[in-house]
Amino acid sequence: MKILVTGGLGFIGSHTVVELQNVGFDVVVIDDLSNSSLDVLNGIEAITGKKPDFEKIDLREKQAVKDFFVKYTDVTGVIHFAASKAVGESVENPLLYYENNIGSLVYLLQELQKKQESHFIFSSSCTVYGQAEKMPITEEAPIQGAMSPYGNTKQIGEEIIKDVAKVSGINSVLLRYFNPVGAHPSVNIGELPLGVPLNLVPFITQTAIGIREQLSVFGSDYQTTDGTCVRDYIHVVDLAKAHVTALQRLIDKKNAEKVEVFNLGTGTGNSVLEVINAFEKVSGQKLNYKIVDRRAGDVTEAYADTTKANNILGWKAELSLDDALASAWKWEQKVRGK
Ligand code: WQD
Repeated sequence: MKILVTGGLGFIGSHTVVELQNVGFDVVVIDDLSNSSLDVLNGIEAITGKKPDFEKIDLREKQAVKDFFVKYTDVTGVIHFAASKAVGESVENPLLYYENNIGSLVYLLQELQKKQESHFIFSSSCTVYGQAEKMPITEEAPIQGAMSPYGNTKQIGEEIIKDVAKVSGINSVLLRYFNPVGAHPSVNIGELPLGVPLNLVPFITQTAIGIREQLSVFGSDYQTTDGTCVRDYIHVVDLAKAHVTALQRLIDKKNAEKVEVFNLGTGTGNSVLEVINAFEKVSGQKLNYKIVDRRAGDVTEAYADTTKANNILGWKAELSLDDALASAWKWEQKVRGK
């Protein structure tokens, strides 16, 4: 069985391709290279010794998606990462997000619906919870109005998958990520943000290596231990392994429902200042940062209740925040040739 990984040259996608190959799956990657590079294929091969098949396809092109499934008739397992994912950009350009994130999902599902049976893993996000009332956040926490068009595309995507599951042989798992961070320990693959990083950890490593002058900490007047926002930072390798576990669950027909939902986090929350302190400890670098105003749209805290993922999915995060920050720093140094 060949597994399709869309967005497979991206940050989480590439790490998932590695973990799929590590357990013997045959992988084909679709990527439009809008936010990644072909060089990632070499990074994957350097780790696993196998280069996955690759198709450069824009999933907004319906015919191209159809043609793919004619060429790869044996693909019945899909892990769907491909999407635009910059929260701020989605506010500026909502139609880009609805066309890309919703359009590509619909075209993929239209092809899978033609099959007797298929397995679909969807990359969702804890943003669907907005600012959850209760910590840690369980899968039963209410879905709140999205804080951005990006978050809305994840909510809409989940609803589309649930509706299609009722009338097709598509079995799905929705994986709601908390904050993915870090890089593969081999430093052959990692996060490659284009332009100025939006996320905390790449901004930290780029500041430490001297590409960015100073990290701005967005607000220190939140109702948290030290006033800065709290998040659940999960190592990307742990996150990748969860996708393989979820896919295997569907292949083995262990799923209890046609659509299952799991929160993927460590279960531990860390504040921005705690992340900065941990980075300084693991890297030995003093970080230049300043406290500035809050960033619009940020929730005060979000960390996962991992009970369902641990006990039902049978997956548990094993790597620590220090592991993630150390690997992110090693990756930054390698990418910058330092
Ligand atoms: C984390 C914390 C910031 C940058 C987003 C998306 C989410 C997912 C992960 C795609 C916050 C603070 C950040 C900086 C800072 N992406 N921060 N200075 O916003 O929790 O989640 O990325 O799926 O959907 O919403 O992650 O890394 O941007 O921010 O102080 O330069 O770091 O305020 O408290 P976030 P983040």
